[in-house]
Amino acid sequence: MRKPLVAGNWKMNGMRASLIELAGMARAYPAALRAKVDLVVCPPVTLLFPAVASALGSGIAIGAQDCHAKTSGAHTGDLSAAMLFDAGANAVIVGHSERRADHAETDADVKAKAAAVIAEGMTAIVCVGETRAEREAGKALAVVSAQVRASLPEGAKASNVVIAYEPVWAIGTGLTPTIQDIAEMHADIRATLGREIGKDQAAQMRILYGGSVKPQNAKEILDLADVDGALVGGASLKAVDFMAIAEAAG
Ligand code: PGA
Repeated sequence: MRKPLVAGNWKMNGMRASLIELAGMARAYPAALRAKVDLVVCPPVTLLFPAVASALGSGIAIGAQDCHAKTSGAHTGDLSAAMLFDAGANAVIVGHSERRADHAETDADVKAKAAAVIAEGMTAIVCVGETRAEREAGKALAVVSAQVRASLPEGAKASNVVIAYEPVWAIGTGLTPTIQDIAEMHADIRATLGREIGKDQAAQMRILYGGSVKPQNAKEILDLADVDGALVGGASLKAVDFMAIAEAAG
């Protein structure tokens, strides 16, 4: 019922020469895989426009990693969702833990950004996740549930919002939660969504896992009932790794 989505987050990595990896992904994404798995790649914004051109006709959607909540105005250095859409983006990651940490983004900020993204007709990939201290204190489920409730924009539906559960301590560390912990968290997020947007929409909304997803561990994670894809950082920089994860989702 839910088509898996594998999203690549290049973070602050990638020069024009890196577009060769995107071309490699496009070549390795035949119609049979396209029918089973959706792909979105989120390069740094400097590469957005050429990435859209390079992915054209491949079925790979191109996204951005952040946006401003407002449409335009006096916000030096910021980019609006409307601008990203104009450059060819179909999706925007909002509330990544690196932005929550580096730029002090709150759930309210994330909610406003997500609202801006869906107002442009794009998909908001809303990130949530607990810190190591929160997990060790037994608070992971409560923390993530609160983030989901406070970060979801008005009008969130399965067609315009994707949730990405990314434990902060698993990002870029090579560490992952146990399979049981991932399964428990994803089921709990779906229950929270059910209370927020209704059981029907919750049943259709995609919940991605992110944090040290690699070709080696992807299948076991993606086979879980409530895991509907992955948000991939490091392993999305190389076409072979990213497409191995896409295959594991199919
Ligand atoms: P990672 O990053 O796959 O390099 O752990 C995931 C993310 O931050 O989205």
